[in-house]
Amino acid sequence: MTSKWVVVLFGATGYVGGSVLNRLLQDPATKTWEIITPVRSPEKAKLLEKLGVKTEIASLSDHDKLELLASRARVVINAAGSDDLPAINAILKGMRKAHERTGELPILIHTSGTGEISEMAYGKYTAETVWSDLDVGQLKSVEPTAFHRGVDLAVVHADEGGYARTHIIMPGVIYGIATGPVFEAGIAKAISKDVPGLIKASLDRKRAGVVGPGKSVWGHVHIDDVADMYLVLLDAIKSNPQSVGHGWEGFYFGVTGHNTWYEASKAIGEALVGLGFTDDAEPTTLTDEELEKYWGSITAGGYAGITCVCRAERARTIGWKPKYTKGALLASLKPEAEMQWKLVQEKGGFDFSYEKSHAPMLDRIFKRR
Ligand SMILES: NC(=O)c1ccc[n+]([C@@H]2O[C@H](COP(=O)([O-])OP(=O)(O)OC[C@H]3O[C@@H](n4cnc5c(N)ncnc54)[C@H](OP(=O)(O)O)[C@@H]3O)[C@@H](O)[C@H]2O)c1
Repeated sequence: MTSKWVVVLFGATGYVGGSVLNRLLQDPATKTWEIITPVRSPEKAKLLEKLGVKTEIASLSDHDKLELLASRARVVINAAGSDDLPAINAILKGMRKAHERTGELPILIHTSGTGEISEMAYGKYTAETVWSDLDVGQLKSVEPTAFHRGVDLAVVHADEGGYARTHIIMPGVIYGIATGPVFEAGIAKAISKDVPGLIKASLDRKRAGVVGPGKSVWGHVHIDDVADMYLVLLDAIKSNPQSVGHGWEGFYFGVTGHNTWYEASKAIGEALVGLGFTDDAEPTTLTDEELEKYWGSITAGGYAGITCVCRAERARTIGWKPKYTKGALLASLKPEAEMQWKLVQEKGGFDFSYEKSHAPMLDRIFKRR
């Protein structure tokens, strides 16, 4: 009997990681994996164990623990942080130990994002460059100081170092309310990041907001299609490893369509009309004061006016078949606005602490043009 593959999944209490865990638990191959989910919350660990996974209490700052966990893993999936270099270095150190002990090449599936190849356009224009994840020369040309880049370079260098097989999933804006046991159990939040901030700001100002004129085009992907990508990758790695690009050939964009930020804001405006906040669905430009109020800084708020155009081709070569279209994105904004409004009422007010927490990092990386 062959032994089970130990899969260590960081970020199982999150939107992406929780969706990946649901897929892992539903996959026909689930019995061939021993799933370990390191999390910060002991309460959530107990809930996760009820779903049949092992847990460890660990923060990304517990570097010794990260190293130990990674040293025992056949596969590490990181959906907990795209920008924590010390954490990824600890994980890679553990993977090097695993390689030295077993002679195998441990697998890393790391989560980054297309923010890495985006331009801070403040809604004013659409990027002219079209990125392809099959164009390695183009991927190598990204500035080392770009968003997420330091961590991604560390990941690729591990592959070049010959002790790990690395894969980097780069989703665009992920949308849609996540479903499945992890979310039903209250372990993870079912909503994403960037679009919810725009929805909350619009609800608070009772009118859809948009950064600048909203002309910038950005790539999107539904949460279910993103989660599928991790499983397609994992299945291909297991069944036909030679078919699977890794290292510099291991960047996998997760984008299924593009929209302007205006289109998204207009759909939010229609949701606001439905909720009775306004009778005009037309978005209005967010002022600098509003960007600071909701996102903590003009640059952080400007992220909802960023631009990037890309073709997600590599994952399709190994069988990724995304199901959702742009219509699904626009249709998702009404139920999401209704859900956000319900949450605001339950909590007794708006909470922008999550949006604001990213301001120092975004300020450092994107300077206002
Ligand atoms: N959502 C998007 O649209 C999007 C798009 C592109 C890329 N991404 C990338 O995908 C990754 C996951 O995003 P998400 O939307 O799933 O975020 P999320 O819902 O906020 O989940 C983040 C996860 O990481 C964990 N985490 C964060 N800091 C940690 C720490 N110091 N120690 C231990 N665990 C920690 C959280 O644990 P707790 O529950 O304990 O907080 C949670 O499980 C991020 O790296 C993000 O950059 C997301």
